[in-house]
Amino acid sequence: MAILITGGAGYIGSHTCVELLNAGYEIIVLDNLVNSKIHTLDRIKEITGRNFRFYKTDLLNKAEIQSIFLENDIEAVIHFAGLKAVGESVEIPLRYYHNNITGTLNLCEVMNEFDVHNMVFSSSATVYGLQEQVPLFEELPLQATNPYGRTKLMIEEILRDVYVSNKNWSIALLRYFNPVGAHPSGRIGEDPNGIPNNLVPYITQVAVGKLPELKVFGNDYNTHDGTGIRDYIHVVDLAAGHVKALEKVMSSSGVIAYNLGTGTGYSVLEMIEAFKEVTGQAIPYQIIERRPGDIGISYADPSKAKKELNWEAQKGLYEMCSDSWRWQMNNPSGYDVEVKEQENLSVTPL
Ligand code: NAD
Ligand code: WQD
Repeated sequence: MAILITGGAGYIGSHTCVELLNAGYEIIVLDNLVNSKIHTLDRIKEITGRNFRFYKTDLLNKAEIQSIFLENDIEAVIHFAGLKAVGESVEIPLRYYHNNITGTLNLCEVMNEFDVHNMVFSSSATVYGLQEQVPLFEELPLQATNPYGRTKLMIEEILRDVYVSNKNWSIALLRYFNPVGAHPSGRIGEDPNGIPNNLVPYITQVAVGKLPELKVFGNDYNTHDGTGIRDYIHVVDLAAGHVKALEKVMSSSGVIAYNLGTGTGYSVLEMIEAFKEVTGQAIPYQIIERRPGDIGISYADPSKAKKELNWEAQKGLYEMCSDSWRWQMNNPSGYDVEVKEQENLSVTPL
């Protein structure tokens, strides 16, 4: 019996593959590599010393998903695959709706067909929308403020309807806060295309000298230093949360949402200061106007995940910064460096 990981070559997916393999699970990775590199898979194998099957498959291709279910004995799916750039989703909403929603519909249809009803889904704290009330807890009313967020909200609702239609389904909706950091080995991490949208990869690229300075989006929020506060969570903690959620869905039924956050918020200036200390590098920055659509404060109430999944984040700000930095230093051009250095690198078939 195996766990299918859609989007398993991506940032959070790759770290979750490591945790699952280390916990003894057999995994199968499906990814179309639209936002990831095949070399990630060899690094997962290197870290864990374990092998697994990889399918370069697009979730929009239903026949290929069916073949994967035919060839393998799958008992649960962890569904990461999706497009995730908020700004891009405003520019090309149809691509986001089609990719994220049609992809999920195809996956659910095939799961139904093969009688597989256990799913852990990557939702996002973005489903809480513009609420200023903190901490954010699972029962708050939900809203979306951009097409990307709307795909997450719609998929949550679709999955609730799917459960109503067939009570065999067991689904965990994991609402991630702000994932940062990298595996402590420095071998896998976040490898954004082009100029990063998110704070932490932007800071590490400034620290390593790839980008001249950080633009801080506003210092007039109602926070202690005026800059935005977020609940940054180490990606390895997040990955461990998936193992717990998987155990939960495989032993129950229903649709349950869980926040995966630390419950602690840090401001942009506190993040800059922490990175300065950890890296020993100057992080030049300039305060500019607010980024449209941003909220002042967002952090989780993580108590439901602690109570029901027996999970809580273990890693603090120091590890978030030092692991992000190690990954950046060891892989200044992301996974591309290895492509040049190891031309013969390939994915070992099982
Ligand atoms: P990522 O882009 O690194 O990983 C997503 C993976 O899905 C990529 O490897 C991509 O190639 C693959 N993919 C996309 N569309 C596909 C398709 N149609 N068929 C097959 N593969 C496809 O992103 P991530 O940061 O690892 O995020 C994973 C999930 O978590 C996403 O659903 C994202 O929306 C969600 N999420 C991410 C964050 C974050 O800040 N990183 C926060 C909240 C939620
Ligand atoms: C964090 C803080 C910015 C960049 C986004 C998505 C969300 C989720 C996670 C997927 C904010 C400030 C940032 C910069 C800055 N993704 N900032 N200068 O906006 O909380 O969440 O990623 O689900 O949907 O919206 O994360 O890292 O972009 O920003 O000052 O160059 O850093 O204003 O306060 P965000 P972020």
